[in-house]
Amino acid sequence: AVIDSRGLGQHGVFAYDPGFLSTASCASSITYIDGDKGLLYYRGYPIEQLAQHSDFLEVAYLLINGELPTAEQKAQFVSTVKEHTMLHDLMSNFYRGFRRDAHPMAVMVGVVGAMSAFYRDSSDAFDPAQRDIAAFRLLAKVPTIAAWSYKYNIGQPFMYPQNRFSYAENFLYMMFATPCEEYQPNPVLARALERIFILHADHEQNASSSTVRVAGSSGANPFACIAAGIASLWGPLHGGANEATLNMLEQIGDEKRIGEFIERAKDKTDSFRLMGFGHRVYKNMDPRAAIMRETCHEVLNELGLNDDPLFKLALKLEKIALEDDYFVKKKLYPNVDFYSGIVMRAMGIPNSMFTAIFALARTAGWTAQWMEMIASPEHKIARPRQLYVGPARRDYVPIDKRV
Ligand code: ACO
Repeated sequence: AVIDSRGLGQHGVFAYDPGFLSTASCASSITYIDGDKGLLYYRGYPIEQLAQHSDFLEVAYLLINGELPTAEQKAQFVSTVKEHTMLHDLMSNFYRGFRRDAHPMAVMVGVVGAMSAFYRDSSDAFDPAQRDIAAFRLLAKVPTIAAWSYKYNIGQPFMYPQNRFSYAENFLYMMFATPCEEYQPNPVLARALERIFILHADHEQNASSSTVRVAGSSGANPFACIAAGIASLWGPLHGGANEATLNMLEQIGDEKRIGEFIERAKDKTDSFRLMGFGHRVYKNMDPRAAIMRETCHEVLNELGLNDDPLFKLALKLEKIALEDDYFVKKKLYPNVDFYSGIVMRAMGIPNSMFTAIFALARTAGWTAQWMEMIASPEHKIARPRQLYVGPARRDYVPIDKRV
């Protein structure tokens, strides 16, 4: 031990790395990112190819199992997910305990965590067979939980999952259908949503995935671990950025005010940041943002909203920021959240659901990360060290002697 000036021993050798800027917390074979070149691969496959040719459940299979499925494996996987889309009927009681205006992410933290009480036959993290069932349940039920949190907000009846639909179509159905009329999801919108799910499915050791790994490292219940991931994702610096971006664009309101907000983002005495800009790992264009911008064009075109003022504002803001010295020098580019909010808003999805949809998609990555962590021969409980900077030893002072 090294004895410091306070007479305290600092034991052992360890790295002090706030925010884990240069600490690899694990070895993983799931997702590769080259932040300088702006590359993102899931299990070796470039995100652009997956976004173009694949669908979300196939990508979930890939993330969890390591390989793309054969036709037979895919059919089996999709059918098993569909077997699990319903929630235990008593789970609907949970919703009624929340205020009507509860944020969907608050509801999701609670209800996904509550799955641990309902599905106890898939709660043993150390049993591979139970892990598989937990994975299917998570992929299948989280969309239902998310859609119901919206239905609860707006006071409409919960819509039960329809397994004749694709994953994204079913989600649109549970969000927008009512018992009073026929609802047929728009295939262009469903495809765009599927792409949003694919782009958000995994992103290696970000805050929420690391949270899931740390929570799960003790062997904790998988549903509780995913609820912890949802809690971490909620923050405006992480998954909450898509909602914050749209709120910011609405606040800017007019192209004439872009300059004012850019100046605020550069001002170190102002806590304002350009939401949807910057990334811990990407020091180049986030490849997901480019796909999202393209998807934005497609969706707005389909809906006849080519002149959408927020989209125009976003394009202009991106252009101005990318020509600004501050953003160039700090390598701050748009991230995936910059355009995803505009796409979702055009689909009729309210701002408050954006992060819930991110959580739904990231459930695939969290599950894959959790399974890889717990099955690894190097698995250990996560137990970071600290650099103690508090007071040295001192004696207790009775309350009447304190000043
Ligand atoms: N606007 C203005 N300045 C910024 C921004 C921004 N969006 N992002 C970073 N900076 C500046 C910081 O002020 C800092 O400047 P300094 O060196 O003069 O102090 C420098 O760039 C580095 O920023 P850090 O916060 O140290 O970088 P970090 O890697 O810790 O943070 C983060 C990355 C959180 C994404 C940050 O860029 C940010 O807050 N962006 C806005 C929120 C956002 O879009 N989050 C979504 C991330 S993607 C996702 O979760 C899917």
